[in-house]
Amino acid sequence: MVNIVYFSSATNNTQRFVEKLGFPAKRIPLYPYEDFLEVDEEYVLIVPTYGGGNERGAVPKQVIKFLNNEKNRSFIRGVISGGNTNFGEAYCLAGDIISAKTHVPHMYKFELLGTPLDVQKVRKGLEEFWTRL
Ligand SMILES: Cc1cc2nc3c(=O)[nH]c(=O)nc-3n(C[C@H](O)[C@H](O)[C@H](O)COP(=O)(O)O)c2cc1C
Repeated sequence: MVNIVYFSSATNNTQRFVEKLGFPAKRIPLYPYEDFLEVDEEYVLIVPTYGGGNERGAVPKQVIKFLNNEKNRSFIRGVISGGNTNFGEAYCLAGDIISAKTHVPHMYKFELLGTPLDVQKVRKGLEEFWTRL
């Protein structure tokens, strides 16, 4: 069964996208006082980009902390990224960075909270991807 781990800031765009997919999903905590998330099954990571056009800061620090955990890193199978095309070359850069560092495919990019077509494509893509895992 498709399994998602995601990060979303207080604006909750990514949260809304993930909700629309309708797959089981765990959220990486936003605040340091929340319990650290450790996973023990395969997942696809869905993450927004936050560098303001730069590589530095593109991957939210909460996501870096999550992936610095060896167990968490061992279960990642793909990454999907959110962003805003206003950032040009840096659009969805977080997904490129995570893909390069963890050697999993950058499967899809979506803008803000995604369109109904994004939801449809990602849902189908994830179901197919999962049967091949
Ligand atoms: C401070 C800031 C920096 C951002 N930098 C980028 C960026 O470099 N590239 C990009 O594609 N989107 C960038 N974005 C857009 C966010 O990725 C986008 O708004 C996303 O939907 C936020 O998701 P969230 O509400 O789940 O946190 C940035 C947004 C903010 C507020």
